[in-house]
Amino acid sequence: MKIAVFVSGRGTNLNAILNSPLCKDEIEVYFVVSDKANPPAFEIAQEHGIITYSLSKKDKMNSFSFDELGKIFLDTGIELIVLAGFLKLVPESFINLFEKKIINIHPALLPKYGGKGMYGMNVHKAVFESGDKISGATVHFVNPHYDEGSIIQSEIVDISGAQNPEEVAALVLKSEHTLLPKVVSKFKNGELFNK
Ligand code: GAR
Repeated sequence: MKIAVFVSGRGTNLNAILNSPLCKDEIEVYFVVSDKANPPAFEIAQEHGIITYSLSKKDKMNSFSFDELGKIFLDTGIELIVLAGFLKLVPESFINLFEKKIINIHPALLPKYGGKGMYGMNVHKAVFESGDKISGATVHFVNPHYDEGSIIQSEIVDISGAQNPEEVAALVLKSEHTLLPKVVSKFKNGELFNK
């Protein structure tokens, strides 16, 4: 199954998909796309010989719009789009082209701690300051609103021992790296059909 992975930063979740035994033989990461001109995640993509596209106008040689990417994906037979630390809102026109074929990983237990501005360390700070003893990761289908699409699977993490938001982030990230490949593999096997 050919997939595209969207990233904004370092790409550890992209790496988790590329290295997971659940995905290795079955899943081909065909494109990596970013809203940034040259994020660290592109290095991971390039090491694996994966084509990268940028949505940023700053990347003069390699800048594409969502419309252009939609056409390329349809022509290539991309079956799943994974937002793995992608921080830009995906336009409705693009979502409509790939209904129930775009998933996102969020570093908290949705529907708590989601929505605009709730990404990366902002999430972990809010969780830590709330005094919650658990957090986790959630994978959900993408709709036109931040973090509101139907939930596919969550994984709970005990954060009662965390001393600061950075420790919460590290614990949650570890669980993201197992959860995301699991959900990608389930999608491939048609196990998300009823979601
Ligand atoms: C991950 O923790 C992901 O859940 C989060 O950004 C990080 C990206 O890390 N995404 C969001 O906050 C989206 N709302 P990575 O680039 O190392 O995979």
